[in-house]
Amino acid sequence: LNQLLFKDPTKPPVVFHYFPFFGSTVRYGMDPYAFFNSCQEQYGDVFTYVMLGRKMTACLGPKGNDFVFNGKLSEVSAEEAYTHLTTPVFGDGVVYDVPNNILMEQKRFMKFGLTAETFKSYVPLIVEQVEDYTKKSKFFKGPKGTVSLSAIIPELTIFTAARSLQGKEVRDALDGSFAKLFHDLDMGFTPMNFLFPWFPFPSNKRRDNAQRTMAKFYMSIIEKRRKEEASGVDHSDMIWNLMGRSYKDGTPVTDRNVAHMMIALLMAGQHTSMATITWMLLHVADQPKLVKDLYDEQVRVFGNGKGGIEPLSYEKLSECTILNHTIRETLRTHPPLHSIMRKVKAPMHVDGTNYVIPKGHYILGAPGVSAMDEKYFKNPHVFDVSRWEGQKTEEEGEKMDFGFGMVSKGTASPYLPFGAGRHRCIGEQFANVQLSSIMATFIRNFELGYPEGCGVPKPDYSSMIALPTPPCTISWVKRDP
Ligand code: HEM
Repeated sequence: LNQLLFKDPTKPPVVFHYFPFFGSTVRYGMDPYAFFNSCQEQYGDVFTYVMLGRKMTACLGPKGNDFVFNGKLSEVSAEEAYTHLTTPVFGDGVVYDVPNNILMEQKRFMKFGLTAETFKSYVPLIVEQVEDYTKKSKFFKGPKGTVSLSAIIPELTIFTAARSLQGKEVRDALDGSFAKLFHDLDMGFTPMNFLFPWFPFPSNKRRDNAQRTMAKFYMSIIEKRRKEEASGVDHSDMIWNLMGRSYKDGTPVTDRNVAHMMIALLMAGQHTSMATITWMLLHVADQPKLVKDLYDEQVRVFGNGKGGIEPLSYEKLSECTILNHTIRETLRTHPPLHSIMRKVKAPMHVDGTNYVIPKGHYILGAPGVSAMDEKYFKNPHVFDVSRWEGQKTEEEGEKMDFGFGMVSKGTASPYLPFGAGRHRCIGEQFANVQLSSIMATFIRNFELGYPEGCGVPKPDYSSMIALPTPPCTISWVKRDP
């Protein structure tokens, strides 16, 4: 009643709730998209809800995406929204534990290690990991069978990223104690840690211990590399690229900084890529025609003219249009990050409204909402790879035409799975290399489908990202070698 009687026209509508501190925490936490969609219907694109005492203003639609991603540095802060979750996991001195200008420099350093030259060397390494894994795995014995993707994809994702981006030492260590360290660290990267940063969860001790031990491990690799440097050994991985750099003011990037950046890259890529490859395999397995089209594409692009298929290569992956569109459609229907947050540092006026969002509130973008809105995508809930035919990507310098007269580029787009603006993802190209190499290797080796009674599962929002509900079982039949 209070909310109805004393509504302030300069504030966005507040989502109705019974309990002041808890507000909409449970509704949001159970299914953020169902929550956003029902609030959007009731209140419009901009509304405020309460989440454990925090005042969150959701800004939906392409304009909302623009508002959040394009917020001025003087008005919004990503570090104040995320640091309590990320700093204990990544370590200090990097990403959200430093002022934004330092993060921008760190992202620039990381980008130098994400070039076409390095990707060329990564493709065969990723393929080798997937083939090795499926050959040795107990889930792929015999000519045909079923497999739980929830059991294998987390491992495959980390093995492939480790062998390529993280370096051989990290991949080798994953067969030993590093796997347990990663698990302990990961247990500290949960919604509970985000919501209750002050609560002394028993897992926090294991998380802190794992962070310290992992950082030491990376620093020992750096030390070893430094000795190898003199003997002219060439490495194309990220550690090598981050070593020996300096910030603009001349301060050297310390070995600890490098170690913490490596952990940040590992964590940023693991969940996002793992969710995407799982959803992609699930949707592909659901469409026999797509399985065939993807296989025929491999034959068309990599056929050697004698009935055989050449090994996968970075140069030719971009010619695999159907594969690339499958990745795009997966990221449209299941963008791993459903909520992008910023803390408001100075009052922000929302264009086209009377609303002013006060300092201390949070703004929240959810590009996944516009990506599933029929205003921008016909039959948005249908997984239809063909909708991307003829569409160029922003990288190709083209504006994207989503039909319905909606043409966009930059932050005001309905499709932004990698974010936009100053915090935009730097891992997009690497993720594309990793996802397409894994997918193409599966397609070349197996026909995919579903066992009787199985199909694409529902999303599960209990972790930081939108994962399919386990066990995610699909069936496979080995192709003739
Ligand atoms: C930022 C998505 C893979 C590293 C972001 C953001 C999104 C995103 C939405 C923006 C976050 C924000 O504005 O608050 C994804 C998706 C991926 C993926 C969908 C895979 C399918 C990766 C990989 C890496 C990576 C593989 C590392 C190699 C980063 C980094 C940032 C970032 C360093 C910058 C954070 C910032 O500036 O605040 N990613 N990401 N991501 N991502 Fe990714």
